[in-house]
Amino acid sequence: LFVTTLITRIQAQNYDERKVPRYTLPEPLTTSSDMEVKNIKTWEKVRRPEILQLFEDNIYGQMPEYYDKISYEITSEDKTAMNGKAHLKQVLIRITQKDKVVKINLTLFIPQNSTKPKPVFLLINNRGKENTDPERKVKSEFWPAEMLVDNGYAAAAFHVSDLAPDHKDNYTNGVLQLYPEQLKMDNGMKAIGAWAWGASRVMDYFEQDKDIDAKRVAVAGHSRGGKASLWAAAQDQRFAICISNCSGNTGAALSRRQFGERIARINTSFPHWFNNNYKKFNDKEDSLPVDQHMLIALVAPRPVYATNASKDLWADPTGTYLSLKNAEKVYALYHRKSALPPSPPNINEPVYRSILAYHNREGEHNMTSYDWGNFIKFADYHYKKGR
Ligand code: GCU
Repeated sequence: LFVTTLITRIQAQNYDERKVPRYTLPEPLTTSSDMEVKNIKTWEKVRRPEILQLFEDNIYGQMPEYYDKISYEITSEDKTAMNGKAHLKQVLIRITQKDKVVKINLTLFIPQNSTKPKPVFLLINNRGKENTDPERKVKSEFWPAEMLVDNGYAAAAFHVSDLAPDHKDNYTNGVLQLYPEQLKMDNGMKAIGAWAWGASRVMDYFEQDKDIDAKRVAVAGHSRGGKASLWAAAQDQRFAICISNCSGNTGAALSRRQFGERIARINTSFPHWFNNNYKKFNDKEDSLPVDQHMLIALVAPRPVYATNASKDLWADPTGTYLSLKNAEKVYALYHRKSALPPSPPNINEPVYRSILAYHNREGEHNMTSYDWGNFIKFADYHYKKGR
């Protein structure tokens, strides 16, 4: 019986472009009181806060920002890491609220090529901890820290389990210990919110590390981590760049296309990711007051790079591209024109010289050195190599 149910569920997902329903996207530039947004001021004062609240209430949950204390401790350091190319710092970030503590273990490699503060890529690591092991015993493509350092970028990473273990039975063992009231609210924070919250606490740390240029922090994540990197950059405007790799449903892809993974499916498989209210939209994508192009729009005017992999239809490459395209009008308010062509570029043809960037890498659902190589070019382009 179990097997049959599973097969029926999987078959219920659509991979046929012709079966994508007709849909109308909610308009990012019309306020809830039907006012047209024509300038940055109305966007920033009225519509942006409205949209942020809609995402909080209906999808990702609240983002509590209070705590009694935050402290940073360098628990270990090595100025000869990566054959002398990097200064490795292992930082313990402790956040205390009442008698509860959350500890974030940050691994940070800083290039030693000059004494200038360095731009940094911060990875929200949702995969095995060995990918971001400070000893670099495993050098996986998922986090090519050497490549970042060779290109003048600091490489930073933390693991999601420090904030919220990725399981429905224990995701509350982390940030939610600090904010137990969140668990009682239908718009309360859950795991993805907790991971994004963690990225902001690392940002707090960067702001006081003189080796880091806190104005040039790119927050990056893959898949569920890429859903969190988008939410982090939408919430916290200190992030200069957002990278969302193969983030798919409730990440960079439009929900209304109902292509690949759908809301009902994600809420069933991962009930601990999004708030309770989100469950109301199971099989009711059209009644959501937002769609994911509006999440990207919240990052405007800062650069966003979203990606897909050609064999990963689950994450809806076309829906991801359309999401970026539909965010363009908000960037246009800031006179930032994207270089994305009207329809998706070919596989392995990255468009990174653009405020909204995209590529569809040939291959499987993953994050590889191909992806990172393009993220570096994208950051180089936006920072104009001025470092
Ligand atoms: C599952 C899930 C996706 C998620 C992915 C991942 O496939 O359905 O939504 O992005 O895991 O995190 O790798």
